[in-house]
Amino acid sequence: MSELLFKKPTDSDVLLSVVMHPEDTNANNTIFGGRILALMDQAAYACACKHARAVTVTASINTVNFLTPIYVGDLVSIKARVNYVGQSSMMVGIRVEAENLITGELRHSNSSYFTMVAIDHVTKKPTTVPGLQLETSDEVRRFVRSYTRKMKQQQNLKNFQAQTFSLNKEHLDWCQTQNARLNPALYSLIKAD
Ligand SMILES: CC(C)(COP(=O)(O)OP(=O)(O)OC[C@H]1O[C@@H](n2cnc3c(N)ncnc32)[C@H](O)[C@@H]1OP(=O)(O)O)[C@@H](O)C(=O)NCCC(=O)NCCS
Repeated sequence: MSELLFKKPTDSDVLLSVVMHPEDTNANNTIFGGRILALMDQAAYACACKHARAVTVTASINTVNFLTPIYVGDLVSIKARVNYVGQSSMMVGIRVEAENLITGELRHSNSSYFTMVAIDHVTKKPTTVPGLQLETSDEVRRFVRSYTRKMKQQQNLKNFQAQTFSLNKEHLDWCQTQNARLNPALYSLIKAD
C-alpha cells in the first residue's frame, strides 16, 4: 500500500440503520445492550475496512454509556467515521441514535470510540493504512482528541499492569463501607510487613 495515500474521513462514512424486533429485547422489554454493541462493532468494522481496504479487527472499545432505553419498533441508526489513524490502527467514532418511527422522536443513545487494526491477508499481522486528509477544524479536533485518548488509554493500561495488589486492613475496612459483606476470616490473611 502506498505510504503517500491519504483519504478523507468522509470517504469511509458508514450509516447502519436497523428496526428493533421483539427478539432483540431483554427481560425488561427494552433492547439488549449487547445487540447495540454488536451493531456498533459492525459499523466500526465496515468503516475501518472502507478506509483501509483491508480486513480489520477490533482491538479495543472505549467506555460505552447507554443514556436512554431503546424499544421494539425503534429505528436504531449508527453513524461511523474514522477520526484518527496511526500506522495500522484506526480510531472510529460511533454515534447511536434511536428514532420512534411513529412520533419521530430522536434520542441519542450513546457515543463511543472503537480502535480497529488492519490485518494483512497473507501474514495475518497488522498492516499500514492510508493517512487521513483533514479538511475541517472539526476533523482536526477529532484527530487530536483521538490521539490524546489513545495515549491516555495506553498510559492507563501501563499503570494498571504495574500495580500489584496485597491484601491489607485498609482494603478490608473500605469494603465494609461499601455494599459488601466480608468473611471475618479475611483479616487473618493479612500479611505482616
Ligand atoms: C489488535 C492486534 C491485531 C494487535 O496486534 P499486535 O501484534 O499487538 O500489534 P502491534 O503491537 O504491532 O500494534 C498494532 C497497532 O494496534 C494498536 N493496538 C494494539 N493493541 C491495542 C489495543 N488494545 N487498543 C488499542 N490499540 C491497540 C497499536 O497501538 C498499533 O497501532 P499503530 O500501528 O497505529 O501504531 C492483536 O492484539 C489481535 O489480533 N487482537 C485480537 C483482535 C480480535 O480478534 N478482536 C475481536 C475480538 S473477539
